[in-house]
Amino acid sequence: MKKNLVLIGMMGSGKSTIGRILAKNTKKKFYDVDKIIEREINLKISEIFQNKGEIFFRKVEEKTSIQLLKSTGNIIALGGGAFLNEKIRTELKINSISVWLKWSPKFLIPRILNSKIRPIVSKLTEKDLVKLIDTRSKIYSKADYKINCDKLSKDEIIKKIMEL
Ligand code: S3P
Repeated sequence: MKKNLVLIGMMGSGKSTIGRILAKNTKKKFYDVDKIIEREINLKISEIFQNKGEIFFRKVEEKTSIQLLKSTGNIIALGGGAFLNEKIRTELKINSISVWLKWSPKFLIPRILNSKIRPIVSKLTEKDLVKLIDTRSKIYSKADYKINCDKLSKDEIIKKIMEL
C-alpha cells in the first residue's frame, strides 16, 4: 500500500505551497485539509472560527483529517493545529509519512504576520506567538522527518523532501 506524504507545522510554514508543487512534480494528488473544510462547511476558516467557534472547527478538522489519512499515495497538508490531536497522529502513523516544516520564530513570525488573516493569531502578541511555537514544536517533533527551513529556498525544501 502506498503511503501518504503529510506536511505538518505551524501556519505560515509553507505546507500548502510546498505540497502543491510536490504533487505536481510527483504526479500525485494534493489535498489541503483547510480547503476541504472550507468547501464542506461553505465558509472560510476565519468565518468558521467566528461563527461556529474553535471547538466546532476542531471537530470538523478531526473528522476530515482522519478520513483523508485513510487514503493512499497522496500528498496532504494538515492545518497547523491538526497534529496536536492525538487521534489524528494515531491515524497518521498507520499509512502516512509525516514531514515537519520547521522554522525558527525569527523567520516564522514575520511569515505568519504578513500572510492572510488567521483566526488563531489575531488575538496573540508576538510574545504569545513565540510561546505557541515553542509549545507546539514539542509535539511537531514527533513527526517522522524534520526539515530545518530557515536557510533554505522553496526549491531546496522541495528537493530535501523528494530525497526522503
Ligand atoms: C490553525 C492553522 C490553520 C487553520 C486554522 C487553525 C492552527 O491552518 O487550520 O486557522 O491552529 O495553527 P494553516 O496552518 O494551514 O494556516
